[in-house]
Amino acid sequence: MASPVVLGIESSCDETGVGLVRHGRLLGQALASSMDEHARFGGVVPEIAARAHLHALTPVVRRALDEAGLRLSDVGAVAVTTGPGLAGALQVGLAGAKALAYSLGVPLHGVHHLAGHVAADTLEHGPLPDPCVVLIVSGGHTSLLLVRDLARDPIVHLGDTLDDAAGECFDKVARAFGLPYPGGPAIDRAARAGDPRAVPLPRPLPGSYDFSFSGLKTAAARWAEAHAGRALPVADGAASLQEAVADVLTRKAVAACRAHGVATLVVVGGVAANSRVRALAEERCQAAGITLRVPPLRLCTDNGAMIAAVGDLLVRAGAAPAPLDVSIDPSAPL
Ligand code: KG4
Ligand code: ZN
Repeated sequence: MASPVVLGIESSCDETGVGLVRHGRLLGQALASSMDEHARFGGVVPEIAARAHLHALTPVVRRALDEAGLRLSDVGAVAVTTGPGLAGALQVGLAGAKALAYSLGVPLHGVHHLAGHVAADTLEHGPLPDPCVVLIVSGGHTSLLLVRDLARDPIVHLGDTLDDAAGECFDKVARAFGLPYPGGPAIDRAARAGDPRAVPLPRPLPGSYDFSFSGLKTAAARWAEAHAGRALPVADGAASLQEAVADVLTRKAVAACRAHGVATLVVVGGVAANSRVRALAEERCQAAGITLRVPPLRLCTDNGAMIAAVGDLLVRAGAAPAPLDVSIDPSAPL
């Protein structure tokens, strides 16, 4: 039997994403973001994000269907992020997904947001090799995972950040540097003109495969404060911060691959868009004989296609659908 079109909905933070996937192939996707509404607060405001999802969801579903040249009646299954994420934001996506699944009479699948980030890469590069190590680096997460079959095997957590996520570190230091929100892309742009050796910043390497970015964040913010009243060499600060983050991320990721005899590293999440993280990962993987997979930028940040991709894997693996009274799990463990 041909596999159905899976409609995926992502609404865990500030992006309302809808994607349509059939048998590993992305048919169409659309995205709305409330990022601009949060900019003046320097971070995502949960209440604003939830309201924005409510306004955006129906038009984004429509746009994704239009892009794919499909009608709602072509949808054969619905997948939705149930967690982790902001409670109010998740609720809106789940309510929309339930309504769609119920009215179309199709199965509903709840998806873990991080499994979505992992699966994003399959839409570009095909099925993931079993096993692979996945580094997820976003505004909310910095995790090293050992992944086997996404639809059947549990994901093994190798390490996590002990404090701030890497994206959070970029966002907060960018603020201290007077750069706009979100800070990651702003740091990336500013770093182009800077010297990565200009500012001595710590390269925190806590035990095993864990990470720690709060000391680095504080050191970079202190460096900025020390320039009070004088011009801040932002480009040098940005380049030095980016180098330190890229160094610890790629060092640990390659070490995890080596220790587990894994030949493929996948880097996903918003921070995978960082130019220095990408370049250093490429360099170190090549030196270690590891294949590096990084999805294109539009699939690196939050989107609905990645949730549809997991839904598609679940459907094809014959996973049991979620009951219609399934709840969100804002702090869902893996
Ligand atoms: O995956 P994502 O869209 O959302 C979640 O946090 O789940 O990731 C957003 C994060 C933000 O912290 C943003 O600053 C960071 O990814 N980011 C970047 C870049 N583009 C986005 N960080 C560094 N360099 C970039 N080019
Ligand atoms: Zn994310």
